[in-house]
Amino acid sequence: MGSRLLCCVALCFLGAGSLDTAVFQTPRYLITRVGNKKSLSCEQKLNHNAMYWYKQDFKQLLKIMFSYRNKELIQNETVPSRFLPEPLDKAHLKLHINSLELGDSAVYLCASS
Ligand SMILES: *[C@@H]1O[C@H](CO)[C@@H](O)[C@H](O)[C@H]1NC(C)=O
Repeated sequence: MGSRLLCCVALCFLGAGSLDTAVFQTPRYLITRVGNKKSLSCEQKLNHNAMYWYKQDFKQLLKIMFSYRNKELIQNETVPSRFLPEPLDKAHLKLHINSLELGDSAVYLCASS
């Protein structure tokens, strides 16, 4: 029974607060099982050309994962291939994560510029 809890991965996405935010992440919170596949979505309404996914781990370190410019991958900080970004257009960047591991528990942040 207890092992069920131990095998869960918590992915948190800091979504838009109540301020005038123009970058939206869904879902805001997600708890799932190790081994599952999940997708995070990000949308920006700022007409920016570049979008980014960051990961903030339990040590509070914020690390860049991917940068996209006009749908084109311009930076990949050697993120494992389990993490597969999907740019729908310059304003929408999804992040699919396959075979979730415990170490994937983190806050995933999307940004644009
Ligand atoms: C990012 O780089 C890693 C290591 O080189 C590679 O395995 C992975 O497939 C790359 N991801 C993308 C989306 O290009």
